[in-house]
Amino acid sequence: MTFSPSQFLSQHWQKSPVVLRSFFPDFEDPIDEHDLAGLAQEEDIDSRIIAYADNHWHVTHGPIASFEDACRGQWTLLVQAVDRYIPEVSDLMNAFDFIPYWRMDDVMISFANQGAGVGPHEDQYDVFLIQGKGSRQWRVGEPGQYTEHFPHPNLRQLQSFPTWKTFTLHPGDVLYIPPGWPHDGIAESDCLTYSIGFRAPDTALLAQQLTEGLIGGDLIGKRYSDPELAMRSHPAIVNESEISSLKELLLSQLSSPEFDDNLMRFLSDQQLPYNLPDSLLTPEALRHELVNGATFGLASGCHPIYPQKQPADSFIFYVNGEQFAASPSDREPVELILKGQPVNAAWMQSLGTLAFIDIMTILINKGYWERMDT
Ligand code: SIN
Ligand code: CO
Repeated sequence: MTFSPSQFLSQHWQKSPVVLRSFFPDFEDPIDEHDLAGLAQEEDIDSRIIAYADNHWHVTHGPIASFEDACRGQWTLLVQAVDRYIPEVSDLMNAFDFIPYWRMDDVMISFANQGAGVGPHEDQYDVFLIQGKGSRQWRVGEPGQYTEHFPHPNLRQLQSFPTWKTFTLHPGDVLYIPPGWPHDGIAESDCLTYSIGFRAPDTALLAQQLTEGLIGGDLIGKRYSDPELAMRSHPAIVNESEISSLKELLLSQLSSPEFDDNLMRFLSDQQLPYNLPDSLLTPEALRHELVNGATFGLASGCHPIYPQKQPADSFIFYVNGEQFAASPSDREPVELILKGQPVNAAWMQSLGTLAFIDIMTILINKGYWERMDT
């Protein structure tokens, strides 16, 4: 049966788990456990090994110095944000672009040996679990008040949860799990799991954006004033109208265009590793490279966004916390490149616009678009 994104959104997204059988037909792993082990040795890549051996749970954080010491008993090697380093892993996320980019987080990849798992737990975020090589049995429970415990200081698990359903996943199958649904995956054979993770800001984080914007000065902060101050029966009283005025002060900041800009910067901020090019391009040099056959593409793991409501005189978009502006006449090609359209001479010529090369130059010099053909 073909997958219907709209049916998935109305029936399952944030509502109930579902298995999407053969979501990736003839799935081929873009990475293997040896590549994963290589990444786990890198200083700036977040990785860990969770092992169950000698009746105890062990957690080793990366960079992993000795796999021999860490990989004992039943063990799982987990590496975060692999999409930022391996374009083929980043491409896996494209299959889920019925969910907006600003909700996407990263791809965590795990390799588990037979019988291994990270234990029963629940996550705060939605996840699509893609089964790579091997097979894995997932036991899923319904949301509830379950007792948490820490069998190791760095390992949060649930003591137990009643089974709602079990699913056995084979290569190319996908299991969607909404936040708060407990789950426990046990590898039936050595297996790879790709977790497409999402993010959802909480109120405290949003409020932090407001205060940071105000303190940083990009929101024009108004001060409370009361020229109409009248006598009251007791000096300790705070009038209801004063409370309303104070709240109004906050609301007026929230509805300002400056706050919208601040919010877009926050939503687009992926804390991407900076891959600045060795030398800066000029528009002429870029044109020259394109004519000589170069192709440029969106950097691995990068998810730009733009607001639906646009100013009349430009098309604005945000990449990794930064705002960029293109001419409104370039909106169509910019929308395409924000979705991963490769940029080469043939495509540029088909556009018949020169202004676009300027914004392209800026994006390449920032490291957000890279040469794909080298
Ligand atoms: C794993 O890949 O072992 C864990 C994924 C998850 O349960 O969220
Ligand atoms: Co989980």
